Amino acid sequence: MKLSLLNSRQAIDELDQWLEQVATLPGWFVTGTDTGVGKTWVGVRLMQLLRRRGVRVIPRKPVESGWQDEQVTETDSWRLAVSGSGFQPLHEVCPNRLLRPLSPPRAALLEGRELQIAGLAAVCLEPVRAGQFVHVEGAGGFYSPLAMDGLNADLAQALGLPVLLVSEDRVGCINHVLLTLEVIRQRELEVAGVVLNPIRAATPGMDNLQDLRALLQVPVLRWPV
Ligand SMILES: Nc1ncnc2c1ncn2[C@@H]1O[C@H](COP(=O)(O)OP(=O)(O)O)[C@@H](O)[C@H]1O
Ligand SMILES: [Mg+2]
Repeated sequence: MKLSLLNSRQAIDELDQWLEQVATLPGWFVTGTDTGVGKTWVGVRLMQLLRRRGVRVIPRKPVESGWQDEQVTETDSWRLAVSGSGFQPLHEVCPNRLLRPLSPPRAALLEGRELQIAGLAAVCLEPVRAGQFVHVEGAGGFYSPLAMDGLNADLAQALGLPVLLVSEDRVGCINHVLLTLEVIRQRELEVAGVVLNPIRAATPGMDNLQDLRALLQVPVLRWPV
């Protein structure tokens, strides 16, 4: 019990120190090692911590698929909108809502709609021009298709924002983190940090935080539990 309290205190302090650096950025592009790893879960909590530091945080989810108007409060865009600074109109957070729970370009194709990286980038860049911190969540992982003419990686490149990589903290995640970081580097983008998100109980003896820190130069954090 004492040990876990100690770890938690240390993790909170590390998170706090890291956020001091993050607060100086124009924003970030939040990606994951996969879909369902906690981009939104971790993202909204980081937005709240940044806001507490006085950062004006503007959320963007430029496209969301699997959209259901009758369950709007379950959407990523809603969760991000209510976690941003001040009132964030949902149509500005997410101007492209697609019904089918598929990759955005496939869902758009089936609805007879167009979806281009330049259009998605435009809705994210306007807060950056206004000197605010833009929190952009992609869809899926870094190489998941995002528009008819590009992947999440292409939007990240068009924006030129540092990348925040979220991974579930589980056995096997080191491979996924290293592979994703490799392509982020290939795209010549900065890495704001890697956040390990403990969704499920840890496998006894597992320590992905220490193992990744030994391998990487970029900030690696584990969400405090
Ligand atoms: N640390 C956590 N503890 C408990 N549940 C979590 C945690 N992180 C994510 N979840 C849950 O896991 C699911 C996937 O997380 P989400 O943030 O939506 O992933 P992504 O945005 O990467 O698709 C959601 O139901 C979310 O509430
Ligand atoms: Mg999400």
